[in-house]
This record gives sequence, C-alpha cells and structure tokens, in this order.
Amino acid sequence: MATSRIILAAISLALACTGITRAQTLPSTPGTALLERGRYLVEIAAYCAACHGTRGLDGRIVVGMELAGGRVMSERGFRAVAPNITPDPETGVGRWTDSELATAIREGRRPDNSRIGPPMPVELYRGLSNTDVSAMVAYLRSVPAIRHAVVERSTYPFTLAPSGPPAARVPDPPSNNAVARGAYLAGPVAHCMDCHTPPLQNEGRDWSRIGAGGVPFEGPWGMVVGANITSDLEQGIGRWSDEQILRAITQGISADGRRLAPPMSGRAPIWARLTESDKQDLVAYLRSLSPQPSRTR
Ligand code: HEC
Ligand code: HEC
Repeated sequence: MATSRIILAAISLALACTGITRAQTLPSTPGTALLERGRYLVEIAAYCAACHGTRGLDGRIVVGMELAGGRVMSERGFRAVAPNITPDPETGVGRWTDSELATAIREGRRPDNSRIGPPMPVELYRGLSNTDVSAMVAYLRSVPAIRHAVVERSTYPFTLAPSGPPAARVPDPPSNNAVARGAYLAGPVAHCMDCHTPPLQNEGRDWSRIGAGGVPFEGPWGMVVGANITSDLEQGIGRWSDEQILRAITQGISADGRRLAPPMSGRAPIWARLTESDKQDLVAYLRSLSPQPSRTR
C-alpha cells in the first residue's frame, strides 16, 4: 500500500509538472485503474465538491479548492461546515491512514471516534463497495494538499446517531443488471435518494417511500423540495420520456422546461460527464421505483 501511494504521488507530481491531462499520460500500471475510478467517483459521480468545495463570494467553487472545505450548509435547522479533505497534514486529512479515511466516508466516524453529521450522506455511503471506497481513498491521497483552515465546527440541535457496526464487505453491483447498477449509483454513489426520499426526524429518511421526495432546501431561490422521482404518473416522473429524465439530470431542466433550483441544477453540468452506461442505468433504476404519492400535508 505504502509503495502504491508513493507511485501515485510520483504520478501526480509528474502530471502537475507537465500539465498534460491525466487520461492521456497515465501509464497502465496496476493502481492506475483504481486511481481513475477514484477520480471519476470523487469528481463526477459522487461529486464531493458540491459540499466540500470552497465557495467564492459569487457562490461558485474556487478552482483548485474543490475539496478544501469551508462551505456552510444551514438549510434544515442545523449548521454544518464541510471540512478540508485534501491531504494537508495541518488543515486537511493528511495525517489520517487509508483505513481511517475509509471509515470516515463509509461509517461516518473520525479517528477520534466522533461522529460525522449531515448532510454528509453517511447512511448511503455505508453501501459503497470495498473497491469503490478504496478508489476514493487512493484518489483523495493523490490530490494536491491545500492549506486551508476551516475553523468553524458544525452544530446540530440533536444528538448524532451512533455509527453502527463496521461496514461489512460490500461487493460491487452485479455487472449484468442495469437496475441494480442504477440503484447503486443513485444510492451510495450520487446520493440522489438522500435528497429525494421523505425525511424523518433528525435527518433520517423513510426508505419505505424511497424516491417520493420531500427534503426541503431553502436558499436565495426560495424553498424547494427534492422532487418525487418515483414512477407515479401524477406526482412522479412516470409519464416522462427517457430524454426528459436525462435532461433533468444533465441539464437541470424539468419536463415542462422549467429550470430546476440549484441543489439539482448546480450538479447537472457535472453529471453531464457521467458515462453513457451510468446515465442509462440511472434511468433504468428510476423507472423501476414503485409509484408513491408525495407526502400529503
Ligand atoms: C451533501 C454534502 C456532502 C457531500 C456530498 C459529501 N460530504 Fe463529506 N462532509 C460533509 C459535512 C457537512 C461534513 C462535516 C460534518 C460534521 O461536522 O459532523 C463532512 C465530513 C467529511 C469527512 C470528515 C473530515 C473531517 O475532518 O472531519 C470526510 C473524510 C468526508 N466528509 C469525505 C467526503 C467524501 C470523500 C465525499 C464524496 C464521496 C463527501 N465527503 C461528500 C458534507 C458532505
Ligand atoms: C442535494 C440534493 C439533491 C441531489 C443529490 C439530487 N437531487 Fe434531484 N432534485 C433536487 C431538488 C431540490 C429538486 C427540485 C428542484 C426544483 O423544484 O426546482 C430536484 C429535481 C430533480 C428532478 C426533476 C423532477 C421534476 O419533477 O421536475 C429529477 C428527475 C431529479 N431531481 C433526479 C435526480 C437524480 C437522478 C439524482 C442523482 C443522480 C438527483 N436528482 C440528485 C435535489 C437533489
């Protein structure tokens, strides 16, 4: 492991010097595929920067600070501050071991045993496969260390739930099953279902009504809720074409042409870079969700 880390560090250093894109220059050593998978997950499919990116005064993520932390999220009665997760030893996670980093992501527990709170989607990240969590860790190790102290701590008006047993050995989704692959993407990887499933007390989710929507987001755009994305014909997306579903995910535009609010549309340009097969898998999965009415108030 130590050797592979040195190799990875050497590769990223070489790339930083040449300035050539990684895809063109990475030699096909073992470990390269893992690192590329990690990059795809962290930068695109899981898009950790949505929360961990440092925001400038214009609200946009500062280039080069995608994982340097500092964003405050206070939509739902708590005040969460995203930490710096670059390898800086002082202000980031540079002193954590690989397994400590994996435990933080998948079990929501730091090396000092404290709990990691919402909106970090730990309940879903528990389902990340062993391969994928290793890939994420390998990639997080390879990015430049950014010195950026995030001093404010998150505050929650409720006690964070205990972290539960260690994450079991999680296999990759079966390669011959589009719905299962899509469920894995929409759940543990892209955490679509965290925003699109009815909330319970203290940030839990009513998984018996998965996809029925209802998580509120308040911001300069007003109040929006994660939409019902089950196959319900009236309240969900049961009547949408595949193209309309993909347009919402990759362009942030609803079936009726309305521009969706930033919690969704802000991610769309990133998800536009998902592989074609990942996009098709997401559609297959959403189509498979049993129809659920939205919550009646
Ligand atoms: C929806 C927002 C969100 C997303 C997406 C997200 N995180 Fe987090 N993450 C947070 C917040 C907020 C915290 C701090 C919570 C707290 O203070 O208890 C956190 C904490 C962490 C920590 C603990 C760091 C520390 O110093 O305590 C790690 C590691 C981490 N996230 C990694 C990741 C990775 C890797 C991804 C992408 C796979 C990711 N996060 C995606 C919001 C998010
Ligand atoms: C951070 C929260 C969040 C995440 C993550 C998220 N969404 Fe959304 N999504 C929303 C919100 C909020 C809306 C409604 C926006 C509005 O009404 O303007 C929405 C809207 C949508 C819509 C349009 C529904 C309609 O009726 O117009 C679709 C489809 C959708 N999301 C699918 C997905 C998929 C698939 C993923 C994962 C790849 C995903 N979303 C991830 C919050 C999220």
